[in-house]
Amino acid sequence: MKFFAVAAALAAQAAAVSVSGAAEGFAKGVTGGGSAAAVYPSTTAELVSYLGDSSPRTIVLTKTFDFRGTEGTTSATGCAPWGTASACQLAINKDNWCNNYEASAPSASVSYDNAGVLGITVKSNKSLIGSGSAGVIKGKGIRIVSGASNVIIQNVAFTDINPKYVWGGDAITIDNADMVWIDHVTTARIARQHIVLGTNASKRVTISNNFINGVSDYSATCDGYHYWGIYLDGSSDLVTMKGNYIYHTSGRSPKVQGNTLLHAVNNYWYSNSGHAFEIGSGGYVLAEGNVFQNIPVVAESPISGQLFASPDTTTNAKCSSYLGRSCQVNGFGSSGTFNQADTAFLSNFAGKNIASASAYGTVVSSVTANAGQGKL
Ligand SMILES: *[C@@H]1O[C@H](CO)[C@@H](O)[C@H](O)[C@H]1NC(C)=O
Ligand SMILES: *[C@@H]1O[C@H](CO)[C@@H](O)[C@H](O)[C@H]1NC(C)=O
Repeated sequence: MKFFAVAAALAAQAAAVSVSGAAEGFAKGVTGGGSAAAVYPSTTAELVSYLGDSSPRTIVLTKTFDFRGTEGTTSATGCAPWGTASACQLAINKDNWCNNYEASAPSASVSYDNAGVLGITVKSNKSLIGSGSAGVIKGKGIRIVSGASNVIIQNVAFTDINPKYVWGGDAITIDNADMVWIDHVTTARIARQHIVLGTNASKRVTISNNFINGVSDYSATCDGYHYWGIYLDGSSDLVTMKGNYIYHTSGRSPKVQGNTLLHAVNNYWYSNSGHAFEIGSGGYVLAEGNVFQNIPVVAESPISGQLFASPDTTTNAKCSSYLGRSCQVNGFGSSGTFNQADTAFLSNFAGKNIASASAYGTVVSSVTANAGQGKL
């Protein structure tokens, strides 16, 4: 018995030592740790060390790394900007946020896990891969360090980061980086953003086949739907979002602004209680071949940036001069409208790696079968 169990475990490790597939879209060509021999951290400290050192690495997770309690807890006074009902998130008074921005909100006692607040530092030339459905990081996210490039995160779940407290931590942070691929990742029960690109340039990023699970006991909309989904800020960012499942959110899914070009293709948005897109100044969004199901407000008004999301094939043919092919129409079920055809920004796609697009008809089945950790 024992022999077979060990053999099976070794086989599982052997099967998971390399990245599966390749990035499509803007981060095409990313290699992460490349051919570096796989390492298998056994403690949270070892994992932190592998991600933050200066060697190219292939880091394989074969179990859950639970950071909760590893850095102590803090009890303090925060605030309740969204109300004091038990389903509402509370806010930590980080950098005096409550006093500066929510002065009229009632104060509230908060008690949060310190490990969640700041993600694990990730340096250049790393692949972080989960083995089968075993790779889970609990209670702490990751932060691709300023200046880093060439990072792959694949088949990992990030969960349970202070879900009750805004400012209690993000799952994945990218700010001032280049060539990052986030693939087959699941994020669930997060304090703040599931994925956040900061105000500096994150250059080329591909976010594919992820499961953004917004189900939470605590939310800023107090209704079990997480508000802080995906925030794509930047200064010259190119982001491909393909094949993602964005489920049960109520805002910022995504919020796009700050000279960010977003190609959103063949994603599936399902069940939202607020809005999906926020397109602020400097947000340039091409959305094609996506499915919106039960998304009453697909894009919050006003759209201050630019959007190409066309419902008719004649207009979609305008993509040909910039993408070398027509764009695909999006599909809608019990959802609001998403229909605007700004073309001025499509020239920004020239010379870039551009993801392919399928007709939306197969998106629901392929995304629900493939998106998230444990689906490779
Ligand atoms: C990452 O790898 C590339 C290619 O091998 C190399 O040129 C670069 O110096 C590495 N970066 C760091 C920070 O090690
Ligand atoms: C962003 O850019 C500013 C201005 O160059 C710099 O001061 C800051 O440290 C940068 N932040 C990051 C995360 O790189």
